[in-house]
Amino acid sequence: MRAGIGLAIALFIMASAFAVETGMLKLPPPQTHGGMPLMQALQARHSSREFAARPLEPQQLSNLLWAAAGVNRPASGKRTAPSARDWREIDIYAATADGTYIYDAAAHVLRRVLVRDVCALTGKQEFVAGAPLNLVYVANQQRMEGSSDEDRDRYAAADTGFIAQNVYLYCASAGLNTVVRGMVDRKALGAALNLTPQQQIILAQTVGYPP
Ligand SMILES: Cc1cc2nc3c(=O)[nH]c(=O)nc-3n(C[C@H](O)[C@H](O)[C@H](O)COP(=O)(O)O)c2cc1C
Repeated sequence: MRAGIGLAIALFIMASAFAVETGMLKLPPPQTHGGMPLMQALQARHSSREFAARPLEPQQLSNLLWAAAGVNRPASGKRTAPSARDWREIDIYAATADGTYIYDAAAHVLRRVLVRDVCALTGKQEFVAGAPLNLVYVANQQRMEGSSDEDRDRYAAADTGFIAQNVYLYCASAGLNTVVRGMVDRKALGAALNLTPQQQIILAQTVGYPP
């Protein structure tokens, strides 16, 4: 009897852990109208390295990810950011205190890939650990068919730049702080994210409210 109850509890714990590990964070629909006029957002765009610890509101997170690389033409699935040969090879990982997610642009949801908080591993600067959101731009070379190694590197870097600038402009418009970052321990972060050799970390970008 006791063994039966023990087994039931163990199965329940395992099932709960699985649900968390494979959890999905449904985002509210993005607000795709309004915001700051483009020329003002360009005027306001800047890097900042100070962040309040409080997490982003779900609506802010939704708008931010849509602005970064969301689907703006549902008929074709094309995005707010261009990508070489429409490969859409850059995956956006979102590291938060609650765990690490990957942005599924087509479904506009965050899919949890790790329960672990890897914020501290996303950069070598002190502020990254305490910031509420660290985006990590990962190029999946499996989607970049028929190009040389050199072109793959070149296009992945360019495509990441467009996404990062979209994030900068959204942050300028929404009053959020952000900085794009190249100083990343790619080996340690890649291991923590369970990346394959064909998944290359290009840049990271911290986002949060001003302190
Ligand atoms: C590819 C790239 C890598 C960068 N890496 C870092 C970084 O690792 N850490 C950091 O604090 N800022 C980083 N920055 C931000 C730059 O320092 C910043 O853009 C520059 O000082 C100009 O400031 P502004 O963005 O306010 O115009 C990076 C910027 C770019 C474009």
